[in-house]
Amino acid sequence: STVKKIGIIGFGTVGSGVYETLVTKREKITHLIGSDLEIPVILVKDAARKRHVANDTKVTDRFEEVIALADLDVVIEVSPDAETGYPYVHALLSKGITVITANKELVAKHGETLLPLADANNCRLYYEAAVAGGIPVLSSIRHTLKTNDILQLEGIVNGTSNFILTKMREEGAAFDVALAEAQEKGYAEAVPDKDVDGWDAYFKTTILSQWLFGRAPVWQSAIPIGIRGIRLEDLTLAEKIGGRIKHVAALENISGQPVASVRPHLILTEHPLYAVEGVNNAIHLEGSIVGSIAFQGPGAGKFPTASAIVEDLVNHLSHTSEKQPDVLNISMTRNEEKSFTPK
Ligand code: HSE
Repeated sequence: STVKKIGIIGFGTVGSGVYETLVTKREKITHLIGSDLEIPVILVKDAARKRHVANDTKVTDRFEEVIALADLDVVIEVSPDAETGYPYVHALLSKGITVITANKELVAKHGETLLPLADANNCRLYYEAAVAGGIPVLSSIRHTLKTNDILQLEGIVNGTSNFILTKMREEGAAFDVALAEAQEKGYAEAVPDKDVDGWDAYFKTTILSQWLFGRAPVWQSAIPIGIRGIRLEDLTLAEKIGGRIKHVAALENISGQPVASVRPHLILTEHPLYAVEGVNNAIHLEGSIVGSIAFQGPGAGKFPTASAIVEDLVNHLSHTSEKQPDVLNISMTRNEEKSFTPK
């Protein structure tokens, strides 16, 4: 049928990864969604820089040129922070244009405003890519863990921190050297402090809590604890006693309230997060029916993140994803469950 028109906001590591994926997978995507794709516009910071995009794609640094396009079907938003992304996403959703974002800070801070805004304008806000990069954890929870109550969750959700800790432990690399490599590989945020000071994991944990429990968590400490204070000696000592230091995000259902923490932990050999290395992320959760399950895979980087975005796009355009509630509102019945005696 008709051609679907896609705009892209942000053309760094992730934005260019999305563009390349749309180009290389065009035939498959066209088949899946039943129409062809066009990318009429890409919003960038510096429009003077040469980009390798098709001639019919306009590269601009003026958002007005994006919002002026009346017939965009979807905009993919991969700007680096909430401050940059919010006005764009607010304006697009207000116009009824569906947005797919990888911007976890945006969703964690403004999801409560933007999701109802999308509803009110008959469009959608998707953000699978905002949590654990390429791992389809949010949609899996939504589509296949509806009846389960989620009792607890524990994960490694910042690829940069895990990459740095692995590099330091395996090669004795200095923190700065390992961080520089994470930046070079396109894992780190534009401001990498957000990775190594725990904020990136904090935003992702907030989103997971909202997704699972319908509300933001209560935090065990006022601010997250990152990996900046971890020294080579700490990693060596951890190994000597049969463990590894991992940066862990945790959510627990305590008497009906999600309680969260983001901080380094000493993880022992038998623990499932022990073997999660490099840029990988993992999320372990306990469902009331299924028991303990795990998701694992690349948590950051150009193509893993592009994968999550393109899958959101295809889901949306092929109309396979039913209308979602803003949050699941899974009731937290751990205590009730304990006292439940079948008759
Ligand atoms: N900077 C993030 C990370 C990117 O390292 O995990 C993926 O969200």
